[in-house]
Formats: sequence, C-alpha cells, structure tokens
Amino acid sequence: MSNQSLNQIARAIVANHRGILAADESTSTIAKRFVGIGVENTEENRRAYRELLFTTEGASKHIGGVILFEETLGQTTKAGKRFAALLAEQGTIPGIKVDKGTKALTFAPGEVVTEGLDGLRERLASYGALGAQFAKWRAVIDIASGVPTEHCIGVNAHALARYAALCQEAGIVPIVEPEVLMDGEHDLDRCYEVTRRTLMRVFAELDQQRVALDGILLKPNMVIPGKKCPDQASVEAVADATVRVFKETVPAAVPGIVFLSGGQSEIDATAHLSAMNARHKNLPWTLSFSYGRALQQSALTAWSGKDSNVAAAQRAYLHRCQMNGAACAGTYASAMER
Ligand code: 13P
Repeated sequence: MSNQSLNQIARAIVANHRGILAADESTSTIAKRFVGIGVENTEENRRAYRELLFTTEGASKHIGGVILFEETLGQTTKAGKRFAALLAEQGTIPGIKVDKGTKALTFAPGEVVTEGLDGLRERLASYGALGAQFAKWRAVIDIASGVPTEHCIGVNAHALARYAALCQEAGIVPIVEPEVLMDGEHDLDRCYEVTRRTLMRVFAELDQQRVALDGILLKPNMVIPGKKCPDQASVEAVADATVRVFKETVPAAVPGIVFLSGGQSEIDATAHLSAMNARHKNLPWTLSFSYGRALQQSALTAWSGKDSNVAAAQRAYLHRCQMNGAACAGTYASAMER
C-alpha cells in the first residue's frame, strides 16, 4: 500500500471532529473494569458489552475508528454480524491492538518494555484479512525517582518503530503510543520534560526505521501533573504545556494526535482536549481523542451487566461521544454536561 493510502486512512479516522474509541482492553484489563461493576468476566459478557457500545445509534458521527482486542475482532453481534463489518457499515474504521503487553525490563528496576514483535508480520496479515485498517502498540514510561532511564525510553522507542514499520508494510496505519504515566507525585514540569525526551527519541527511531510519518497517528499522554502531586494544574496550563511539547517534538507531517485518557476523569479529559483546540488554532496536526476509560466509565456503570440497562448505558456513551466531538472543535463547555 502506498503512503498516500495510509495517509488517507489516518486522516479519515480523525476527519470531521471525530476520534477513536479504545475498546481494546485485554481479557485481564476488562476483568478490572467488570469487577468494579460486579460483572463476571466471561466471553459472552465481553461480547455483549462490546455490542452495546458498537450498536449505539449516533456514536459513529463522533467515532472515526474503534480499537478492538483480538478476541473482539473474531466476535459477532447476537444476530451474527461480525463486529468489524458492523463498524465499517457505520463508517467507523476497525483497528486492532497488536502488542502483547509489558514485561519487566532486564537490568532496569521498576521499568517495563512492551512485547509482541515476534510473529507480528504474520499476525498483521491475518488482522488485515479480518478488516483491521489500523493498529495500536502501547509503550509505557513511568516517572519516579531515577526513572525513566534513557535505556528504557530507547528500547521502547525502538520497539514502537519496529512495530510501525511492519504495520505500514502490511498497509495498516500504526498508532504509535508512548504513554508517560500520570501515576506518582511529579509535577507538570517533570511530565513535560519526560514527555519531551520520550517523543524526541520515538521520532528519531521512526525516522531511522524509515516509517512514513504521514501514515501514522500519534497517541500520547497529555502533559499533566501526577495524580498525587499536591500542585494540580489548571485546564489551560495542561492544554498549553501539551501543545508546546508537540511543537518541540512532533513533525508537521504527522496527520493526527489522538490522546489517551490515562486515568483522567471523563470531564477532565474532555475539557483538556477542548481547551487545546480552542486556544491553539492552525496547528499542523488534528488534535483528537483515543479514549478508553474516559469514553466508557459512565456507560459501564450504567450498564452493570443488565440487559434492562443497555439503553441507559448507550445514552451515557453517546453523551461522552458528543462531548468529545465538541472538544475536537474546541466548543465544549461544562454547561453541556447534564
Ligand atoms: P485510556 O484512555 O483509558 O488511557 O485508554 C486508552 C488506551 O488505549 C491505552 O492504551
């Protein structure tokens, strides 16, 4: 596939103030979400929950892509329609999480590296045949005393670039996700510095490994103080620092930057994105969302595993889609929350 086709897919995902639903929780991650609402983690419950999300009427106006977990890519609606086909019919592009999660990084206490490169070329071919047009790989960078090391940033950046090159070879748009965690006590400036170092290294590796930058989407964290930092920042300060770090590090060829929510509340994630788009015009990249928890939290709670709650859960999910659609236009206001 040519760079042009990759660029078209990447741009289509974020066109018209649309973003991405990250519904690619692994079986162990969705277990944590289900425990919170008292739902048993069975294959049928996972399928039913994803059907609830993907059949929400009106959501596709705001959702240009959905990231699926491997199991979900093979699943169908109760009526027997494959989820990837259902999404494609709505004009939402199906994608797939392809990393295999993190493992302790050798000789680097407290740090992790993302695995999943072995056999990836073959897996990408089969995901493509099942309808996936984009993929996701998440690298995790923690902030703590003496952490992250350059070594950790380097090996994770190298793996992200190897993944991205394999995706492009297969005609699949790679979402490149280096997540600097918001756990911990660090302040906004420390998050800024670590995010800057990480993005510099990631783009150096992407260049080294011949990845076409106009055929990727970047999925970064926002520049935000750690959850336990006593000095929390204003919405405007987060928005301005986040845009500033991209101006320092992200080439203009990248078509879109789609944020992870990373443990922010639903409202914070929406407000931060909206402030970026309201305060910073004429940026080279589209700024949008690729939220997991910040799109699903209210819907999960409303559903709580009961068929009788499906309509209420879909209303909650649609509402978050609408709010984040407004955030992409920079027109969100807290008065729009019910
Ligand atoms: P959160 O928005 O819940 O951080 O999830 C997004 C994601 O896909 C992380 O890899």
